[in-house]
Amino acid sequence: MSLYPLPWSWAAIEVNNLSLNRRTKKMLRNLVASASRSLVSVSRKSRLVSTQTGVAAQQHPKPVATVDGELVSLQLPSGEHHKFPVMWLRDNCQCPKCFNSQQMSRIIYWDELDTNIKPADIQADREKLSVKWSDGHSSQYKLEWLQDRSFHPEDQKKWLDETYRLPKAGWNAENFESILQRFKYSDVVNSQEHFRGWLEAMAKYGVAIMYDTPPTVESLRELGDKVMYPRRTHYGLQYHVKIKPDATNVAFLKDKLEMHTDLMYCENKPGINMLHCVVQTKGVGGDNLLTDGYYLSEKLKVTNPEAYKTLSTVPVTWSDVGKHGGRLFYFLYRTPVITNDLYGEFVRINYSQPQRSSHFTAPLEQVVAWYKAYDIFTKELNSPENQARIKTRPGEILIFDNIRLIHGRAAYDDNPGNERHLIGQFVDWDEALARLRVLRKDAGLVKI
Ligand code: OGA
Ligand code: ZN
Ligand code: ZN
Repeated sequence: MSLYPLPWSWAAIEVNNLSLNRRTKKMLRNLVASASRSLVSVSRKSRLVSTQTGVAAQQHPKPVATVDGELVSLQLPSGEHHKFPVMWLRDNCQCPKCFNSQQMSRIIYWDELDTNIKPADIQADREKLSVKWSDGHSSQYKLEWLQDRSFHPEDQKKWLDETYRLPKAGWNAENFESILQRFKYSDVVNSQEHFRGWLEAMAKYGVAIMYDTPPTVESLRELGDKVMYPRRTHYGLQYHVKIKPDATNVAFLKDKLEMHTDLMYCENKPGINMLHCVVQTKGVGGDNLLTDGYYLSEKLKVTNPEAYKTLSTVPVTWSDVGKHGGRLFYFLYRTPVITNDLYGEFVRINYSQPQRSSHFTAPLEQVVAWYKAYDIFTKELNSPENQARIKTRPGEILIFDNIRLIHGRAAYDDNPGNERHLIGQFVDWDEALARLRVLRKDAGLVKI
């Protein structure tokens, strides 16, 4: 039995190892450009007869609320049946003494809450649930508000997918052109719908192109400000990628830039990378290469579970040593190549040949296996099957998820009158998602 939570693909492998090949192919097919539907979203209607307790619901003319130990049970006329923990209800009382609707936050202090509180009386009508507590306090909850906070796993999954984070859809070279969305700069700046479309594409596929961008440093700045604000790093608020005489970074040479993620040596790794092409080489090269790290990770999980486990558990130390404002800096961050969250869900990819520290603070016996797994991963991410290639034109901004995608650049010609020049800027995911949720709220897709 695995020590890790078993997402669908692992579970399927354990169910039937013998038919792995057929299953693997099917899974990979499903993975490409399909949202990570690790759990299905089930509409409320489809649950009318199957309740949390498994008891078939009967049609009730009006809502019925009862107390069942530590839980309040709520039967709705539609047939929906919900259970809410007593303490959660008290904690989330919406009265003005407990919740300030202007600040949109809980104002009752923790020490004013009695964790042994009991409902003394409980009533439900067509609009609300009313609770009179054992200490005399009264609470009322709109039924719609309660339904929106349902504890049914399918409803929680729906909320997580629609409000918390949109599910990712993996891609490879084959379907890259079909998932790549292009947005006109002025549309995104002037229309909420296009703005939302762009951020949704970023959340789902991790890549988009903006075109007809004015060739100024303000263009990117305006885009960052529209989200909320750009992320400042030791490269500044913006950085210019072009040949520099005293290049302190391989990016500022005309050489090939190996596949990498930016600033993987930071715990708070910049989320979204924007590369505004101001001048592109008219000669050969200068193309950007992109691989979907999320797709690769999900694929490896199925095709080579051992390599996947190694790359997602063995800690690697990423580092960057350099100078900023005349002072030396030394960045270090220790995390696996594939970093998952506590629940085994993909969080970020870390990859860079130059910025991988020689301090490898992993158990000695894991190192050989790690090198083998890293080699498999590297071959996959460079394979033409997985890698997309795109040469941006002046006015285009290549925007990609720096937490998820691995990117690189082909070597290029650079000569007088033909000097490649990109302007780079980051925006963090927290800000982008905070903006996206509001855009989705305004479009009626999300409730706050
Ligand atoms: C970088 C980078 C891409 C390019 O500077 O980190 O990825 O096209 N540049 O030059
Ligand atoms: Zn209250
Ligand atoms: Zn880069």
